[in-house]
Amino acid sequence: MRSNEKISLLFRKKPIASEGSENGALRRALGAMDLTTLGVGAIIGTGIFVLTGVAAAKYAGPGLVLSFLLAGIICAFAALCYSEFASTIPASGSAYTYSYTAFGEVIAWILGWDLILEYGFASAAVASGWSGYFQTLLSGFGLELPHALTSAFNPEKGTYFDITAAVITLIITFLLTRGVKEAARANGIMVAIKIIVVLIFIGVGVFYVQPANWHPFLPFGFSGVTAGAATVFFAYIGFDAVSTAAEEVKRPQRDLPIGIIASLAVCTVLYIVVSLILTGIVPYNMLNVSDPVAFAFEFVQLKGLSWIVSLGAITGITTVLLVMMYGQTRLLYSMSRDGLLSPVFSKVSGKSQTPAVGSWVAGIIVALFSGFISLGHLAELTNIGTLFAFAVVSLGIIVLRRNNPDLKRGFRVPLVPFIPILSALGCVYLMTRLAALTWITFFGWLIIGLIIYFVYGRYHSLLNPLRRK
Ligand code: ALA
Repeated sequence: MRSNEKISLLFRKKPIASEGSENGALRRALGAMDLTTLGVGAIIGTGIFVLTGVAAAKYAGPGLVLSFLLAGIICAFAALCYSEFASTIPASGSAYTYSYTAFGEVIAWILGWDLILEYGFASAAVASGWSGYFQTLLSGFGLELPHALTSAFNPEKGTYFDITAAVITLIITFLLTRGVKEAARANGIMVAIKIIVVLIFIGVGVFYVQPANWHPFLPFGFSGVTAGAATVFFAYIGFDAVSTAAEEVKRPQRDLPIGIIASLAVCTVLYIVVSLILTGIVPYNMLNVSDPVAFAFEFVQLKGLSWIVSLGAITGITTVLLVMMYGQTRLLYSMSRDGLLSPVFSKVSGKSQTPAVGSWVAGIIVALFSGFISLGHLAELTNIGTLFAFAVVSLGIIVLRRNNPDLKRGFRVPLVPFIPILSALGCVYLMTRLAALTWITFFGWLIIGLIIYFVYGRYHSLLNPLRRK
């Protein structure tokens, strides 16, 4: 085979017609409101309930609100691009599937591999945030875990493994292997609880704000605001999960963009208000705790409300964990179904008809990550992976417009190519604000992925005419 033929094989594309599944097997039952709820369920979690604390104390100070604004604007651009893709190619698999049709196989693989990192580390990070609130709740009852098992591996502080984070990960894995219907039913109620708790925080907290706490507003300058944005970006992750429901939406071309944009808009407004109130109640340099939102109420002696906030945070964070871990198994399933990963991940088994073995493999790895690695590192790794995916999806819009100008689009990004380019530049800029170690780990991950593709995926791909079974 000549080398240019070899190269073109790397970029073989999935035909768009085979996506979207007008005749799909899944029931189309979801509307715009359901999707918005799904999005909010996936978005509000460890980011707002935990990472706000460290972002305010270490980077942004009261300027945290600007960090949220900046990250929110970049996400809004990316959300527009996701919306166009979702309304043009309404198939599950999200960014991985989009790039399979827009860019071709090797890029799709890189993106899919990158999303495994995103969902895997996001799940571990979210579990770690869950653990912080759960332990506060336990200590309210006078119960303490052995110190060595309270937090990630850090011998200097005498901690080795966050047992609570690992256990909740395994419990959620168990639930997912029992079937998603039950999990989805509980999800709606938990989303409502979490929004009520956020509204209580805003409604009560506003009366305890001391404007003096907002001075100095930018103790670490504007560079603190951008570093803060790169951290709290985590809080916005999840609106992209709306597009994974594409095959179950009644009118995908209309409802997907509404669901994506509305859920992001709701969360942006809530985040901006919460971050203002949080830094108004507690001096920013005291916020580096594992449960800052509950801590704020404790700080002003509202012990009962602090307890309610902890309970609400735990409930809310659980929904994010469910969606992230579900997204992980769905993604592994899609990639395995396309032949790029081992068939283990798409083997559906048992009464529940879920890819149980694959879910357990992923669940155990995530549990180990959540036990050993600190929340800060996990969140940074999630962010770099997600920002990379957002940048590729944004540029994908320009490619799709050029290569497939006549496709029916339910939603069109305005001002192409400017908005996609701004979105990609914004994402890359936030990536540059992350630590060197995060970059090194990210590249290591991508290199391992490419090796797997060249040794396994390209031979087993369904698009390979000489496919090895
Ligand atoms: N946005 C999600 C959270 O903050 C990942 O937990």
